[in-house]
Amino acid sequence: MTAQVICLANFKGGVGKSTSAVNLAACLARAGWKTLLVDCDPQANASEMFVKESDIAYDLRSIIADGVSIETVIRTTRMANLDVLPASFDLAILATELVVSANGVHRIERALRPVMGDYDVLVLDTGPNLSHLTLGALVSSDHIIIPLSATVWSTTGLRKFIRWLDENRAEEIFEAELLGLLATMVNSRTRIGRDVVEDMNRSPYPSFATTIPKRIAAEDAVVEGLVAGDPGVDQPFSNSYIAFADEVMVKLRHARKGAHRA
Ligand SMILES: Nc1ncnc2c1ncn2[C@@H]1O[C@H](COP(=O)(O)OP(=O)(O)O)[C@@H](O)[C@H]1O
Ligand SMILES: [Mg+2]
Repeated sequence: MTAQVICLANFKGGVGKSTSAVNLAACLARAGWKTLLVDCDPQANASEMFVKESDIAYDLRSIIADGVSIETVIRTTRMANLDVLPASFDLAILATELVVSANGVHRIERALRPVMGDYDVLVLDTGPNLSHLTLGALVSSDHIIIPLSATVWSTTGLRKFIRWLDENRAEEIFEAELLGLLATMVNSRTRIGRDVVEDMNRSPYPSFATTIPKRIAAEDAVVEGLVAGDPGVDQPFSNSYIAFADEVMVKLRHARKGAHRA
């Protein structure tokens, strides 16, 4: 068996990519799935939920540019079934190196290959751009989840982003399919909050039935290093990520069955 790979992607920042990557990975691990959270963003927000910045010595660039073994780079976490491949500023350098290296967009996939048999699922967090890091993450992935902040609705931007994904798939740059749109930071008491969810559900794209509520406590959870399912985490926030992860597991089980038939 080889891991299924999920990429959290959006060309925008501040839409909940890292929060969703971290909480999805934690919920999958709690459900018993052997999970590797791979941080492909030099900002390292996802990594720092589990590893102190000062403790991060290696990242994907160490594997790709310096030949460090992936086993050396991967870190265990306080949670059973959850490991992290952290990021650091060096990934910003890797982003430019991948542009000029032969087969640059395949380097991340090649770097991850040795451990694909060790996990049920890899969750990849990406930065707010379409750099070679993001492209490399998409090349490594089977599934794409696009988090959308329900505080602003950019139909045009989203449509263009999805078209860019479709074009890359048509050009066989990558194969990853859209698993679904995820509405984050939803405040159902505001007009925009309701409109975004409604527009998302009316769109031709697959979406998750679960939406993530906007909660002030989400910021506190980051400061305290807490994730969905931990005691003391805001219940609506925690429960929404648990429900979202349940939906992801159902979709991945279906995808796995499909793959067996092929
Ligand atoms: N459900 C939520 N409610 C309130 N704030 C949130 C929620 N999800 C994320 N945030 C906050 O919004 C900011 C952006 O989220 P983040 O996950 O870092 O986005 P991205 O990775 O797309 O840049 C962070 O400060 C985060 O703590
Ligand atoms: Mg982020």
